[in-house]
Amino acid sequence: MSDISFDYNFMMSEYVGEESGISLPEIDGLSPKAKGVHDDLVRKRQAGQLPFYDLPYQDTARIKEMADEIASEYDNFILLGIGGSALGPIALHTALRHPLHNLRSRRERGRRPRMFFMDNVDPDHFSALLSMLDPEKAVFAVVTKSGGTAETMAQFMIARGLMQKALGKREAKKHFICITDPEKGNLRKIVKEEKYRSLEVPPGVGGRFSVFSSVGLLPAAVSGIDIDGLLRGAAQMDKRTSLPGLRENPAYMAGALQYLADTRKGKHISVMMPYSQALKDVADWYRQIWAESLGKKFNLQGGVVHAGQTPVKALGATDQHSQVQLYMEGPNDKTFTFLRVEKFDKDLTIPKLYEDIEGIAYLGGKSMAELIKAEQTATETALMKAGRPCATIRFPEVSPNTVGQALYMLEIQTAFAGGLYNINPFDQPGVEEGKLLTYAMMGRKGYEAKRREMEKTKKKGEYII
Ligand code: PA5
Repeated sequence: MSDISFDYNFMMSEYVGEESGISLPEIDGLSPKAKGVHDDLVRKRQAGQLPFYDLPYQDTARIKEMADEIASEYDNFILLGIGGSALGPIALHTALRHPLHNLRSRRERGRRPRMFFMDNVDPDHFSALLSMLDPEKAVFAVVTKSGGTAETMAQFMIARGLMQKALGKREAKKHFICITDPEKGNLRKIVKEEKYRSLEVPPGVGGRFSVFSSVGLLPAAVSGIDIDGLLRGAAQMDKRTSLPGLRENPAYMAGALQYLADTRKGKHISVMMPYSQALKDVADWYRQIWAESLGKKFNLQGGVVHAGQTPVKALGATDQHSQVQLYMEGPNDKTFTFLRVEKFDKDLTIPKLYEDIEGIAYLGGKSMAELIKAEQTATETALMKAGRPCATIRFPEVSPNTVGQALYMLEIQTAFAGGLYNINPFDQPGVEEGKLLTYAMMGRKGYEAKRREMEKTKKKGEYII
């Protein structure tokens, strides 16, 4: 199987200049710190404190069995979840299934259900889907590690109510699969009491690091993705990212370069730009793991640091006509990570038409894959010439194996960068306050004081036009 590669030439000062680029002495200077972070990660992995590392080696028999059961029974699979409980499944589906999966016939879909990922509580959006479903042919996967996330539980309660009304309590139950903590949380309590089919999110695996657990694997297997191939790719990357040296380990090098660019060169924004429609949602998944893991107020000693780069997703070639003007000439505060595909599944030859019109004749006889790849090379070269640091993750092709490699690499890159920033990449205390205020506004018991606090901070009428 071919490996993905990480090309960081244009991150280097030789190409983009001293002011924005990273030099070899800067990389070498970081090596002792990097070695310390590596040793700490290895120690924690061995002590079982970072179980996401070992997900590539799990037995997938139960997940595949359940997925096949679901696929044979239902036409529509609806995932209810948010954040890390949705972004991984979405990224896998967009990358590895037919772009118009849901429009294909059941036979064309390999007798797999249509897939819907509901990761919001917008009532217009959710009711549009619910109103189109045949309850008998629909199955809901309720995915929440904590088992109590307001958005997911609200979706679950609405769906359960509707299904119960349509099918009766006993039958409705068969149409829900719950993926949650094995012991803790309200959803697990409900599963035990009401006897839903369920899978476990391994304890200690956080939402945004859960793509290789049942959270990502069940929906992927339901839609017909080769999940063993995906895990083989992740395991392949585990070998490469277990190496201690920055120059031999793509995840460590990528993490180190982003860290140096952010803390020494003022590159506080990290743009990920796939030149592939299939990899578009990998950039969305990256946006979460990079933001939620590294965006922290406190370091490990409790000092205020306000760490973290702001991740931005863009899509090539589409966003060349929307964002690249800013990237080229706006503030030089960004790094760019391109996702480039060498071999597309299909290609289209552009016919030799309009040979007398010089401005478009050159396109005739070339292929669409040639065009998108040329545009990626051209954009990265233009950015480099403008002194903007760029790296490229090169996919020989988009397959379960290469996507497994890439997601695993980005997980390790994030965990490693967390060590360099000296923050905890596995928690998300900043999300808490908003959650508590939502509970207060929605009348949850025990949050009365928060509600009163909320009332005091009401916006002033005079500042609304
Ligand atoms: O990465 C994370 O931990 C979060 O984004 C969670 O995945 C998100 O808040 C949803 O949480 P849960 O899976 O508990 O519903």
